[in-house]
Amino acid sequence: MATQDQEFPSTIIDILQSSQRVVILTGAGISAESGVPTFRQAQTGLWAQYEPTELATPAAFERDPGLVWEWYSWRRELISNTAPNPGHYALAEMESFYPDFTLITQNVDGFHQLAGSQKVVELHGNIFRNKCTGEGRHIQDLPQTDEEPPHCPNCGGLLRPDVVWFGESLPSNALDSAFKAVKFCQLFLSIGTSTIIEPAASLPFFALNNGATVIEINPQETPLTPLASYAVPQPAGDFLPKLVKAINS
Ligand code: OAD
Repeated sequence: MATQDQEFPSTIIDILQSSQRVVILTGAGISAESGVPTFRQAQTGLWAQYEPTELATPAAFERDPGLVWEWYSWRRELISNTAPNPGHYALAEMESFYPDFTLITQNVDGFHQLAGSQKVVELHGNIFRNKCTGEGRHIQDLPQTDEEPPHCPNCGGLLRPDVVWFGESLPSNALDSAFKAVKFCQLFLSIGTSTIIEPAASLPFFALNNGATVIEINPQETPLTPLASYAVPQPAGDFLPKLVKAINS
């Protein structure tokens, strides 16, 4: 593994400029500079007494749907008061450089799409989408009601955020698209993820096994760091705009 002592070794630029099939994996770290707390950061205010793992589960929703719905309303509010940062915009620009580009995200904030990325695979869903617990159908517009959670206008079942909870399986189409893209990629960027939560955490290692160059961008070490082709200990919001400029140079 080579670490980034000089800004951009020419080998990185060559690979970034010559690759055709590129996959990006992002985690909460890319939204950290927007002010969205990462999973390993402590929660604040009323929610400081809870661990996300206590609230983002089917059992928690079963036990107290109102509490879980309120937590997601708080997170939606928090995300709505922030915005994509230069790291998101840099990845949106990068998409146009490559004929085969896939952006896989573990984040549910929708910031990649907001920044202009088109080819986004949301492994863990999207916090601004809701689904009905009765029929599983996606509900775009919330009914006008004070009920928390609201009920499905079609079947009366409780609505829930369309995000993956702990212990739930990931949307199979998203997972299939992710592994298919990684199988054939030449270049894989792992950005802002602690590389702990499966199955997303396997993707960079799968890429390495398939002979891709894997670049990690994370100020902290992760299980990927010692094995990555290049490890860049910099914040994504700083590094990615510089990387895009270097590719265009
Ligand atoms: P984590 O909170 O586990 O990790 C965030 C990572 O981002 C850490 O490794 C930080 O060092 C890094 N980081 C922080 N600021 C950064 C910055 N400015 N630039 C780059 N990196 C930065 O979040 P995830 O790895 O995304 O799953 O967590 C993965 C999954 O675990 C989440 O999607 C969630 C959680 O359980 C579900 O909810 C299903």
